[in-house]
Amino acid sequence: MSAIGQDRYKYEDYEATAEWLLARIQIQPKVAIICGSGLGGLADLLINKTSFAYKDIPNFPHSTVQGHAGQLVFGELKGKPCVCMQGRFHFYEGHDIATVTYPVRVFHLLGVETLIVTNAAGGLNSKFKVGDIMMIIDHINFPGFAGQNPLCGQNEERFGVRFPCMSDAYDKDLAELMRQVAKEQDCASFLRQGVYCMLPGPTYETVAESKILQLLGADAVGMSTVPEVVVARHCGLRVFGLSLITNKVVMDYNSKECANHQEVLETSDMRTVDLQRLVSRLVEKM
Ligand code: HPA
Repeated sequence: MSAIGQDRYKYEDYEATAEWLLARIQIQPKVAIICGSGLGGLADLLINKTSFAYKDIPNFPHSTVQGHAGQLVFGELKGKPCVCMQGRFHFYEGHDIATVTYPVRVFHLLGVETLIVTNAAGGLNSKFKVGDIMMIIDHINFPGFAGQNPLCGQNEERFGVRFPCMSDAYDKDLAELMRQVAKEQDCASFLRQGVYCMLPGPTYETVAESKILQLLGADAVGMSTVPEVVVARHCGLRVFGLSLITNKVVMDYNSKECANHQEVLETSDMRTVDLQRLVSRLVEKM
């Protein structure tokens, strides 16, 4: 079997990537933002930018999915030094779970303290509407249940402990700050909170699967984010996450609705400006 989880890369691989980047950037980021499907516009808000295509960064994985640009953008967002991942890596692309999370450990070595994750997700909570923005307050790591946890393998103590706590994964202070920001920005009517469930994809859920997820207490389902959050918490980053509800998950056998990537991208387009406003104001107030 090929190396899994933490055995996939050596500490020195992450270090080499971080050193390569540090030699080429003027300001060290304190905040990293991972942009979900169709939400890469956030990176355009940065000023004094320096960008690197993933393919040019030593040891960095490459992204293949439509709606993900594939570059790392360094710059200032409202005066705060940030790095934005325009395009993330997904398990369904064929990347192993350690590769999906590779950038997060690099961010840690760059001096990043806070990770902000955004994603597109299907709404399971019947009160949610398409276009709602859900603060992630907890997650269900389905690939983890099946042994696909990025922390499997020999633990690298320089990053974190063998058995990290996950019951406090999402920062409560940042969630409170976002509630204030949403009020101030007139976005409170569509800001929700809930539990994000990750399935590996690339298939959308069957009706029966969606019913199971709802029964388990999930409010939204998507194909990303959780591995990055697990690795971020392992190395002590503070985490804040937002899911844009791009579609309602189909719960009824008579429904004519069918989840599709086009709808996901269209909803992302519709809400991208609101999402950018919320994230940039949050970063400003942090
Ligand atoms: N299911 C899984 N992932 C998704 C969905 C969905 O309905 N919408 C956007 N990403």
